[in-house]
Amino acid sequence: MDRDALNETFRDIAASKEWQLRRASATPLSPQHGPVTQDNDSSVSADDLVTSSGGSRDLLVRVLRVLSALGFVEETGESQWIGNNVTAVMCRPEAQAAHIHKWDNCNGTMIKMTDYLRAVGHQTPTDPANGPFQHAFNTDKSAFEYWIEHPEIAANFNTFMRGKRASRPSWAEWWPVSDLLRPGEFVNNTVLLVDVGGGQGHDTQIFRDRFPKQGRVILEDLPAVVQDLNELNGDIEIVQYNFFTPQVIKGARIYFFGMIFHDWSDEFCLKILAQTVPAMRKRYSKLLIDDAFLPVQGCPAILGALDLAMMAMHAGKERTQRQWRELLAQAGLKINKFWPYETGSATGIIEAELA
Ligand SMILES: C[S@@+](CC[C@H](N)C(=O)[O-])C[C@H]1O[C@@H](n2cnc3c(N)ncnc32)[C@H](O)[C@@H]1O
Repeated sequence: MDRDALNETFRDIAASKEWQLRRASATPLSPQHGPVTQDNDSSVSADDLVTSSGGSRDLLVRVLRVLSALGFVEETGESQWIGNNVTAVMCRPEAQAAHIHKWDNCNGTMIKMTDYLRAVGHQTPTDPANGPFQHAFNTDKSAFEYWIEHPEIAANFNTFMRGKRASRPSWAEWWPVSDLLRPGEFVNNTVLLVDVGGGQGHDTQIFRDRFPKQGRVILEDLPAVVQDLNELNGDIEIVQYNFFTPQVIKGARIYFFGMIFHDWSDEFCLKILAQTVPAMRKRYSKLLIDDAFLPVQGCPAILGALDLAMMAMHAGKERTQRQWRELLAQAGLKINKFWPYETGSATGIIEAELA
């Protein structure tokens, strides 16, 4: 069975009626006792899964052997399983999208990265249109351009982005936005927030809900990403915008870039910033970046791995605080503060303004 067919089978299992039922009935995690499962009566059998997915019984049993050993489902008897809390999370559309994205696009690139690096004499890739992703997918497009030409990949990526912060609050819920709200200022035409490359507006919407009727709130992304958007609340403006062209919204209080710069090498970040900085007002506009700031020692494995994934797919990188300071200084900006999501965290908000 080739990779596409295997992927298809996994998706069918996750979407199958029985699995959805188990998902719906999974009980909450008890902090004292770990995952709580249903009784054996509501288990699902390999035969049930054959009926609902059309996959072969042998394949299902062999895959579920591993999934149950890893705790993704509970094994309740021979060829019998029941969904648990992990199953419930994994069945969410955003979690499925994350796994599909990581399996197809991340792993699909990383598996060929050693070949690529050998061919270029183990030099760091910096060109988003000529790196490991292009080598793996046999294209001369950047990953974002390639995904836009494959709408099913782009749609899956947007679903993944919507859920990527499910485990932690949005920046708008804890960063001190209210310190920027001068009394009376944001009731008119003043722009409070521009969410640059904001995808389909998940962060923008949380921000708007938290700060309603206070100035204009604008979502910007590529036309293919935002042109058919109709789920956002009406008072978010949607602008089709390429951030390698001059920023059209001038003098906003906040220009927010959520997980944008880690997709790009320094050379391309500076091109984006060169289009943003002229739109900023001195001692007024803030540039807020939601990204990692890696410790120089003892970097958590997950962030080191994310760095390699960004290198693979976009010739991008995660950065240390020093690297952020150097990068933004070259663009005429100074960093006021690194705000971690929680104490000791190496991800958070980087607050900057014109130097
Ligand atoms: C990693 S996603 C982050 C999305 C969102 N800011 C978030 O935090 O979830 C990167 C975003 O950059 C957008 N993007 C890529 N190239 C762009 C460009 N040239 N101009 C504007 N947006 C772009 C993508 O469409 C995507 O929505």
